[in-house]
Amino acid sequence: MILIKLGGSIITNKEKPLSPRKKTIENLAKNLKKIDEPMIIVHGGGSFGHYWSVKYDMHTKPRKYDTRGVSIVKNSMIELNKIILDALLKNQLNPYCLPPSDFMVGNKPIRKKVEEIKKIASSGLIPVTFGDALWYGQNKTYILSGDKIMTHLSKILRPRLSIFALNEDGLYSDPKTKKLIYELKDERPTISDNTMDVTGGMTRKVEEAAKIAKMGTNVFFVNGNKPERIVKAINNRKFDGTLFRGKRNV
Ligand code: IPE
Repeated sequence: MILIKLGGSIITNKEKPLSPRKKTIENLAKNLKKIDEPMIIVHGGGSFGHYWSVKYDMHTKPRKYDTRGVSIVKNSMIELNKIILDALLKNQLNPYCLPPSDFMVGNKPIRKKVEEIKKIASSGLIPVTFGDALWYGQNKTYILSGDKIMTHLSKILRPRLSIFALNEDGLYSDPKTKKLIYELKDERPTISDNTMDVTGGMTRKVEEAAKIAKMGTNVFFVNGNKPERIVKAINNRKFDGTLFRGKRNV
């Protein structure tokens, strides 16, 4: 089983509020169709969820955020989710929409529910979940990132591979020359980050990827604009991107 995160920067234009990158999504769906293994898809918020989270000053820390903001963030994620689901359906894939409130209580995953997701994936359906604004309890809410969901699912389900589709070729050792890091074993590179992102952008992705690798799963960062690279990574062919080698595979 494979876990795939479609980053918000690949499925939306982060420079422009509420703008899906429909061609890219379509191209991703076409390539996902070529994968012959159960998979679970997680997607980010990009210029949908992040745009509204910034507007309403909502973050990953549980607090009493503006209830209007909570509603609007959630609504925008449903809208983006629908675009993803439609693209998958159109390409003869069978998505199974699964908002994170279905398997989270507070900020913890419900083991039984998560284990059920694996069964859904094995049946041929493709569970699709996403980063979202979530109820925490005691009138508090928080933003749950898709990257964190990747860690929760990896921990319980132990996928064969966790893939992050990004708007870059992978991790660069030097952002100026865009020199790609092909493989990371146990080190965590330091990242200078963008600011517009309430869940922590690339820093968060690297953090979560390192956690997942530590649990033993190989993690790939690949360029989602070239989705054939996702297919290659899954088919164990020569791979373009950054590999965080899972501990047990080092
Ligand atoms: C963001 O999820 C969710 C919301 C802001 C509601 P992510 O943090 O996973 O989104 P991207 O991939 O970075 O855009």
